[in-house]
Amino acid sequence: MKLMPQHAGSAKVLRILSLAALAALVYLAFWWQQQAAEAAPWTVIEKALVESLWLEELPPLPNDAGNAVADNLQAARLGQRLFFDTRLSRNGEVSCATCHQPERRFTDGLPTARAIGESKRNTPSLVGVAYSPWLYWDGRKDSLWSQALAPLEDPAEHGGHRMRFAMLLQEDPVYRTEYNALFDQWPEFDAEDSIATNVTAVDWSATWQNLASADQQRIATIFVNLGKVLEAYERQLMPSPSRFDAYVSALANDEPGAEDILSKDERAGLRLFIGEARCVQCHNGPLFTNNEFHNTGLLPPSGSLPDEGRSAVLEQLTTDVFNCLGEFSDAKADQCSELVYMRKGPELLGAMRTPSLRNLAGTEPYMHKGQMQTLAEVLRHYNRAPMALIGHNEAQPLGLSNRQLQQIEAFLLTLDAPAAGGDNWLSSPSGPEIEPDSKLIHTLSGN
Ligand code: HEC
Ligand code: HEC
Repeated sequence: MKLMPQHAGSAKVLRILSLAALAALVYLAFWWQQQAAEAAPWTVIEKALVESLWLEELPPLPNDAGNAVADNLQAARLGQRLFFDTRLSRNGEVSCATCHQPERRFTDGLPTARAIGESKRNTPSLVGVAYSPWLYWDGRKDSLWSQALAPLEDPAEHGGHRMRFAMLLQEDPVYRTEYNALFDQWPEFDAEDSIATNVTAVDWSATWQNLASADQQRIATIFVNLGKVLEAYERQLMPSPSRFDAYVSALANDEPGAEDILSKDERAGLRLFIGEARCVQCHNGPLFTNNEFHNTGLLPPSGSLPDEGRSAVLEQLTTDVFNCLGEFSDAKADQCSELVYMRKGPELLGAMRTPSLRNLAGTEPYMHKGQMQTLAEVLRHYNRAPMALIGHNEAQPLGLSNRQLQQIEAFLLTLDAPAAGGDNWLSSPSGPEIEPDSKLIHTLSGN
């Protein structure tokens, strides 16, 4: 009789134990299934998708018909010198590299850029930028040379103006000689006195209006050529293979040891990236961008209005005097189809250009206003896919677990690698001399 309660007690314990064992088993089965799914070999379709992201698949740089010196190495060297030259600014302190810092993959670590004043948006990386048909988050420029002219005259950035830049190129003997080696003879302009008294004017348009139109034309030509050599430099800023590319290389060539190159979590993140998380829908190809414009439902930082993005600049693109069809472009009209047939439509409200994902380590904060400090924040945003304040968020809620989001983040970090070309292109060239065998040295030494 005494045993009864004991029996009842142990039965209860047994029941609890078996329930616990069952729960553990279910958990184990689930875990095992997940592990098996994560470790499963790539399907044919997955493998093809993974290989489409390989840097090896990057096509040659598209021509820029609008810029006759786009692929001239001497132009690239001159552009490099100018990219780092702080004399190209109102206060003598700002160069392109102030915001596009080579050691930060050509970004600046700020939510929105700052130089003479405050810019409206986040500074993007310039690595691989020459592949993009459109420049800026909203794509309001259709070539790199035309883009380069904008920060130079933006009061918040370089704060200068074309007359001052033309004067600098005219007065600096090295620049003038290098310029002459690339373009037709220097287009002398006679307006030096009137310009010299106004070189630091923030509002330079009155001085400009007073110039003879022939001088305006000459100065604008020098200014545009400054943009063209800057483009030649930027075309040298290419990504180099990352750990991800080493993995795909091993995978594509059936080399043993591929599995040692990426961890299990990184591979699981890659599988999610090309599958369930639908990131490849927009971040595709070897640069992880379709170069298209999408609304991803980002909130503006508190206190600022939502950014209309692409839809606000379509008009401006067609009227820009420095566009592909304009008089300063070296392209023929039939080489400007990108501009002529650009996509329009209501879906572009609040849309921004898909950025490359090859430069994420150390380039935070992310997004067009630097709204997000970490990749974890970016991934939580995609997981929720909130309603857009303006337009329509094209991304769908994902319903992924925290662990899965961490795996995607781990994968994204395998894409980072320094820009190709080493120090050769990543810092200011020192000294006035260029390639020893260049035409320039002859000119300088009077031979
Ligand atoms: C004050 C900081 C600052 C300076 C100086 C600056 N930039 Fe930028 N750059 C930015 C910001 C911010 C953006 C993005 C602006 C936007 O999208 O509206 C940008 C965008 C660009 C882009 C487009 C990148 C892309 O992915 O669309 C290029 C190319 C570029 N800059 C080159 C240059 C060059 C060349 C110079 C020097 C002549 C220069 N920048 C000077 C901050 C700066
Ligand atoms: C509908 C197209 C689309 C999809 C799907 C998409 N993205 Fe994006 N992504 C964009 C656009 C556009 C931006 C720029 C948004 C902005 O700043 O307004 C962006 C920005 C980013 C950034 C910030 C990069 C930077 O340098 O600031 C990261 C990181 C990113 N996406 C990762 C992902 C991941 C991971 C996924 C999948 C979970 C994903 N994206 C899905 C279009 C997309």
